[in-house]
Parts: sequence; C-alpha cells; structure tokens
Amino acid sequence: PVGPLADRLGRPLHDLRISVTDRCNFRCSYCMPKDVFDKDYPYLPHAELLSFEEITRLARQFVGLGVHKIRLTGGEPLLRKNIEVLIEQLAQLRTPDGQALDLTLTTNGSLLARKARALKAAGLRRVTVSLDGLDDAIFRRMNDVDFPVAEVLAGIQAAHAAGLGPIKVNMVVKRGTNEHEILPMARHFKGTGQVLRFIEYMDVGATNGWRMDEVLPSAEVVRRIAAEMPLVPLEPAAPGETAQRWAYADGGGEVGVISSVTQAFCGDCSRARLSTEGQLYLCLFANQGHDLRSLLRGGASDEQIAAAIGHIWHGRADRYSQLRGQLPPEAGEAGRRRVEMSYIGG
Ligand code: GTP
Ligand code: 5AD
Ligand code: SF4
Ligand code: SF4
Repeated sequence: PVGPLADRLGRPLHDLRISVTDRCNFRCSYCMPKDVFDKDYPYLPHAELLSFEEITRLARQFVGLGVHKIRLTGGEPLLRKNIEVLIEQLAQLRTPDGQALDLTLTTNGSLLARKARALKAAGLRRVTVSLDGLDDAIFRRMNDVDFPVAEVLAGIQAAHAAGLGPIKVNMVVKRGTNEHEILPMARHFKGTGQVLRFIEYMDVGATNGWRMDEVLPSAEVVRRIAAEMPLVPLEPAAPGETAQRWAYADGGGEVGVISSVTQAFCGDCSRARLSTEGQLYLCLFANQGHDLRSLLRGGASDEQIAAAIGHIWHGRADRYSQLRGQLPPEAGEAGRRRVEMSYIGG
C-alpha cells in the first residue's frame, strides 16, 4: 500500500488491544455478572486461544502497519500462564522507524503485588489498574467475589515500586452503586502521581442489563470533584484519546473522564482489538470479528496476513458510540447481539 493506512473515516491504526484470556477471578456486575458467568459458562478451551508465538507474529504485522501502542487485556490478563514470556516477546518489537512500543496492560490488580517485578523485568512499560471504590464493603460487592480492597491497593504500590508508572487507575461509575466513592477516590489519588479516570458505565456486551439511568454523566463527576478541589481543563495528550483530562488547580496532578455514553470519542478512534482466539474487532461494540487465526493456522505468509489486516482496517467505518442515540429502539439493548467485553478486553 502507498501512504499511511487509514480507515473509511480517515482514522489511522495506532493502538492494538490484545485479550489474552476470557477468564477473570472477579465478577463485576457491569462486565461478568455472576448469574451468567457461572461454573457452566463455556469459556474457550485452551486449543482455541492464540499461542504467544501466534500473538507475537500478528502483533508484528500490526506494528508494521502503524501500531505504536499495545495493551494486554482480558478478562484478567495476569491469569494467563507465563504472561511475562509474551511480554518479553512483544517488548522486542520495533516500529518501522525503530521505536520500542508503548507496552501496557489493564488489570484488576488482584495478582499485581505478586507479579509486578516480573512484569517490569519482562519489559512492560506501565499498567492500568481497575478500582471501583475504596470502601471495602462497596468494593467487595462490586467485584462480587468478596475480594478485599487492601490487596488491590498493595498491588498498585508494588507496581509503583517496580517502576511500572505512571499508573492509571480506572473507576467505572454506576449511579446508585459507587457514586459516593468518587470523592474519596479523588482525594486518595490526588498528589500521588497516579492518574485516576472515571468511566461512564457503558452498554457493552449483552449480559450486564445496562440502563441509562445507572449512568452518571462525566460532567456531573467533574462538577462534584471541582466543587471541593478546583479543576482546570487540559489539552489531550494524544489524538484519539479516550479520556478528557483535568488538572487540579493547586498542582495536585490530574484526573480524567472517559465519556463514551454522553460524549462519544469515535472521531479519532485508532483502536483495533484482537480477541483471545484471534478475531480482529474494529469496535468495542462490534457484533462480529474478522478471523485472523485461520490465516495463521492455514499457512498464510506474513505478507498475506499484513495485507489482510490492512484490507480490513481500510474498510472500517465503525463508530458505535456516536450512533448509539440514533439506532432504532429495537436495535438496542436486548435486540443486539454483541461481543462481551471480557472476550475482547476493555
Ligand atoms: P492510556 O493510554 O493508558 O490512556 O489508555 P486508554 O485510555 O487507551 O485505555 P484504557 O485501557 O485505560 O481504557 C479505559 C477504559 O476506556 C476502558 O476500560 C474502556 O472502558 C474505555 N475504552 C477504551 N477504549 C475504548 C473505545 O475505543 N471505545 C469506548 N467506547 N470505550 C473505550
Ligand atoms: N462500562 C464501562 N467500562 C467497563 N469495563 C468493563 N465493563 C464496562 C462497562 N460496562 C472496563 C472497566 C474495567 C475494564 C477492565 O473494563 O474499565 O476497568
Ligand atoms: Fe474482571 Fe475487569 Fe471484567 Fe471486572 S471489569 S469482571 S475485573 S475483566
Ligand atoms: Fe472506537 Fe467503537 Fe469505541 Fe467509538 S465505540 S471509540 S469506534 S471502539
């Protein structure tokens, strides 16, 4: 191909998010509700997962096409056995102009205290930790497996000590469930160098029973924080970024809001997603992927795989969050069959 790769809306391919397992040890109601993800849930059998060699081979083609940032997700990526071996392989990749990747990982933090140093040694640059509150009872209820908040906080400390910072902390806000944790979380992380981001509860997947009245708009989150700790807006750090950034006026660092529901950010979306079994998804809300694993296992060459990825990206027009409000009601919620977030990753 001639010139940089762009999709039908002119968006480059910059980020690759790779899900390395569809399993998780938490059961957050907005992601893997217990009544659906029970002991009979049909998780992928091991032979269906991409191997580390297969993931790295695909990632190399993506990097050749413009990807600069790779994020490992799940499910819970630290549950994948020997994940540091994959990280070592990915850390070797270089962009066409010779740069190392921004290599990062999204985790619930439960295994981080144990694994932080090995992850750093393998070449991971930084981590993002999900944390929905500081109150132990609320946190245990949200993860729905009675996991104590103190262990996640210890994981964040361990990651910081291992040099996996600056660490980002993501909090999904559900109105009526953890909205009273917004201020305690903001106070806790202010001035630590760790960047807290508040995520609007999204209608991803088909199992979380999403309702608009459980979404607390980001504008309201910002208003509540600023009433106690004044904020000034910051410019985006990179085009297509998910979060809008705000700085504490007193120099206490920054916070962000990720407003997929009330202020869609599809316009510059440069994110591709690779599922645990090697399906390429062009949007978090897509209901179908493109099968790259059968190319890999069918003997395609690197050139053929890169050409296929380029062709798929070239045809991309996805912008679900922008269209959400315009879809006919029968297309929404129960009507749409969507991939689960635990399968393609946040
Ligand atoms: P940083 O480079 O660390 O800022 O990463 P990021 O903002 O790309 O990613 P992160 O994984 O921290 O994403 C935070 C959350 O934003 C995810 O867990 C999702 O809830 C949401 N999110 C990320 N990417 C998208 C996207 O493309 N579309 C939508 N609608 N939401 C997204
Ligand atoms: N809405 C918003 N974010 C979600 N995540 C998972 N499900 C949802 C949802 N319904 C994101 C959270 C979590 C990450 C693993 O996935 O950011 O931190
Ligand atoms: Fe697991 Fe993260 Fe989903 Fe919670 S949001 S169930 S921690 S993958
Ligand atoms: Fe990108 Fe789809 Fe998210 Fe829009 S909804 S920002 S197109 S992943």
